Amino acid sequence: MDIQLTTQAAQEIACDALVVGASSSKEQQNAAEGLLSPTAGKLDKELGGLLSALYKEGEFKGKLGEIATIHTMGKIAAKRLILVGLGSEATPGADAIRRASATVIRHLEGTGAHTVTLALNRIDSGAEAAHGIQAEVEGALLGLYHFEQYKSKHNEQEKITAIQIVLEQAENPDLFKQAIERGRVMAEATNFARDLINEPPNVLTPTELANRASSMAARVGLECEVLDRPRMEELGMGGLLGVAQGSAEPPKFIILRYRGAPQSAEHGIALVGKGITFDTGGISLKPADGMEKMKGDMGGAAAVIGAIQAIAGLKPAINVTALVPTTENMPSGTAYRPGDILRIMNGKTIEIVNTDAEGRLVLADALSYAVQKGLSPIIDVATLTGGIVVALGTTMAGLFTNNEELGKEIIAAGEAAGEKFWAMPMDEEYGEQIKSDVADIKQTGGRGASAVTAAKILEHFVGEARWAHLDIAGTSFADSKKPHQERGAVGFAVRTLAEFAAGRG
Ligand code: BES
Ligand code: MN
Ligand code: ZN
Repeated sequence: MDIQLTTQAAQEIACDALVVGASSSKEQQNAAEGLLSPTAGKLDKELGGLLSALYKEGEFKGKLGEIATIHTMGKIAAKRLILVGLGSEATPGADAIRRASATVIRHLEGTGAHTVTLALNRIDSGAEAAHGIQAEVEGALLGLYHFEQYKSKHNEQEKITAIQIVLEQAENPDLFKQAIERGRVMAEATNFARDLINEPPNVLTPTELANRASSMAARVGLECEVLDRPRMEELGMGGLLGVAQGSAEPPKFIILRYRGAPQSAEHGIALVGKGITFDTGGISLKPADGMEKMKGDMGGAAAVIGAIQAIAGLKPAINVTALVPTTENMPSGTAYRPGDILRIMNGKTIEIVNTDAEGRLVLADALSYAVQKGLSPIIDVATLTGGIVVALGTTMAGLFTNNEELGKEIIAAGEAAGEKFWAMPMDEEYGEQIKSDVADIKQTGGRGASAVTAAKILEHFVGEARWAHLDIAGTSFADSKKPHQERGAVGFAVRTLAEFAAGRG
């Protein structure tokens, strides 16, 4: 996609659609003109008051994602002017701009528009304008995402091929060009993660996930190492090996390294992602209904692989390692069983009670590995429990941590990235539920607070490291199409993790 910054006057820009943002802020409700940015105000005059008329008549209210189309009939250079609502804030934030941009670009797709100009920002200087521009670019590229590799028919004629971002007053175009680049890096990494998740499980096996991580690493300049079964055996990764023993596909342990601070004594951040390329539940088999969605049980893996791709593009001065334990969870004559006891890499034993609780087992090995390598903080991301879907639905992901500061930092990074996290409890008393008669811990803690007891299991494998666990089971895969987003993989947590890392470098 061709994306350019332009300082040309909006009315002079020749394109198929010129998009202008407008809020529904109550403070400005009385003055229709006040609803419009300086750019929109000027365009309104050129069009003889057509835009403000839309407000006055009550036809357009400025609700987030609301759209009105005006055919300009040669009064300005753009063929069509699109008004898009930015919601009720007087100065819409990055999240509103990102959503509006995605919604409008999805609306324009298939309407014959090839060249689109975006002018959603109300602010046209400084850091806030840069954030707005980044959000415009992110929204547009995320909005245009489709997963169509396996469809025989494509509609090439309808495609949007070029986007211009207008900033008429830009005194510092370099800052804004950088913002466009950041937006592109964030969106492309998110879309890469979405591809990994949307791929069918017969294609995206653990081996294929490792191959895709490795070719991405070669392309963006990351180190990549993939451990095979013999090496896992040497390291004592009994959790990953236990889950993998039911599958005909060999497990992999993928390691990606970004070195932005090669001189530093600090080993840096670990990003750990659950990489179950298909979760049948194993011997504790899942019901058939909806099982196809369990191709997305590597959403955590996709998030950390996408995040480190973005980090390679943003280039913060820190070190980051992504760790991905990946396998299928299958029932078979060689599968692990309820009643088995597995020994994790750090030496602790787990009594298996339900083979469908496989995620915590593969993560336990990866967390132990991160601790052994001296990595800190450790952030793991996983489509871990149905319990978090019950608790928080599809709107927010659960955040569990042993360090409140770290939790706050992640929540703040999420706000900037447009992804919501809610802090969940880690009270000691929940540990009672995972006591075992025969091993160090029991794999599951029953129905009550199951997302919390899963996190309590993970806590056994993080030693003294600062650690946070993000349960994205509800937010990673969208069951329905939204105005701003395609059905299927969301790419959730990619941008939060990249933002988090960038904020430290
Ligand atoms: N991958 C699932 C969790 C999941 C559920 C992800 C819904 C996405 C959407 C996980 O492996 C699982 O099966 N968890 C079980 C554990 C239970 C058997 C203790 C759960 O949470 O129901
Ligand atoms: Mn499972
Ligand atoms: Zn799972």
